[in-house]
Amino acid sequence: MKVELKKGIYWVGYTDWDIRDFHGYRTNRGSSYNAYMIKDEKIAVIDSVKAPFAKHLLGNIAIIAALDKVDYVVCNHAEPDHSGSLPVLMEACVNAELICNEKCQKTLSMYYDTSKWKFKIIDESSRISLGSHTLTFMNTPMAHWPESMFTYIPEEKLLFSMDAFGQHYARSERFDDEVPIPEVMEEAKTYYANIIMLYGKQVAKVLERAAGLDIEMIAPGHGVIWRKNSGLILEAYKRWIVCKAEPKVLIFFDSMWHSTEKLADAIYEGARQPGVSVRKYDLKSSNITVLADEALDCAVLAAGSPTLNKGMMPKVAEALNYLKGLAPEGKAAVAFGSYGWAKKGGAHEIMECLKAMNCELLSEEPLQSQFVPTEEILREAKELGKKLAQKALENCNGDYELLEEWTNEKSAWDKSGKAL
Ligand code: FEO
Repeated sequence: MKVELKKGIYWVGYTDWDIRDFHGYRTNRGSSYNAYMIKDEKIAVIDSVKAPFAKHLLGNIAIIAALDKVDYVVCNHAEPDHSGSLPVLMEACVNAELICNEKCQKTLSMYYDTSKWKFKIIDESSRISLGSHTLTFMNTPMAHWPESMFTYIPEEKLLFSMDAFGQHYARSERFDDEVPIPEVMEEAKTYYANIIMLYGKQVAKVLERAAGLDIEMIAPGHGVIWRKNSGLILEAYKRWIVCKAEPKVLIFFDSMWHSTEKLADAIYEGARQPGVSVRKYDLKSSNITVLADEALDCAVLAAGSPTLNKGMMPKVAEALNYLKGLAPEGKAAVAFGSYGWAKKGGAHEIMECLKAMNCELLSEEPLQSQFVPTEEILREAKELGKKLAQKALENCNGDYELLEEWTNEKSAWDKSGKAL
């Protein structure tokens, strides 16, 4: 079935229902690798798909035009989930030139044998006319890689945004107005937290520049196309690029013999205050993808581990290492955990990680118990939870209406499906 975005502009990508691990990102709803095609006096293909699915890309293109009629293949981003099929595509499209910027050419040449490809190197001043459509380009460094760029068709107010505004979200439907918006927004947020969050400052610059474009539709490299709600995803990105906090406390931990778990439970009970949302994850049954999502918009985080081999438990180390890499901004934090005989162990190691994450530490020492927490220490943990809740409210200017406002916005999206 042909999927037409605008007259003569088609989706020709691949929906990957089965992927569950995208370089460590838990993709519970699969993904799609979106490629597009414009059939005008000249024919252009925008981006490709992951290498194993090249034959599907060629098949989708061939439904619309013969492969030897393709004039241009545009590469917006060299990461292999979008470029992996280029070797097959360039071999099949014998008359096509590959359009990309200089950095992208260099990156592609390190991945593939590009010696036979006809490159057409463009910059932001380039204009490529296909007839009634013009391809224009905007460099978007670090959203997601240094060579990343947007392709924009002014006549259609259509932006091809590769990773930006994407979601790992496999659906047979291709447009945002055909699927539940809260579900798409949830996946867009998880995607932002796990793929883009580290580059928030660079993305802010991209958004500033993109504000100069008249955008009606956004066609990303993954997930559904923003046909009706492009304003909504742009607005959400404005919040996410600054890690705008909700009054939310995030607690995560691993435990050996339930002592650290008891501390986590007591902190959780204390943090459950009016207007504060508390999320508690035992890392044995959770994963780093969810954690990154929660870290994006929490105000305060509490990380716990017992001492194992003089340090923290492996799952806690993995989680903190992942979060440090993604660099969520402006978080207050505490550490907690139990120990047996080595007091300076797991919880202290967590403190060092939190410092490395530039968190505001709310105490100089972690909350600890020797072996099983006593009633007194559990009371202390509950008090600590209350303090975290208070801090979460303060960091949101004591205004838990923010959460309310966000929820209302979500309801408004549910009802109308319209951008704000
Ligand atoms: Fe979807 Fe940065 O690749």
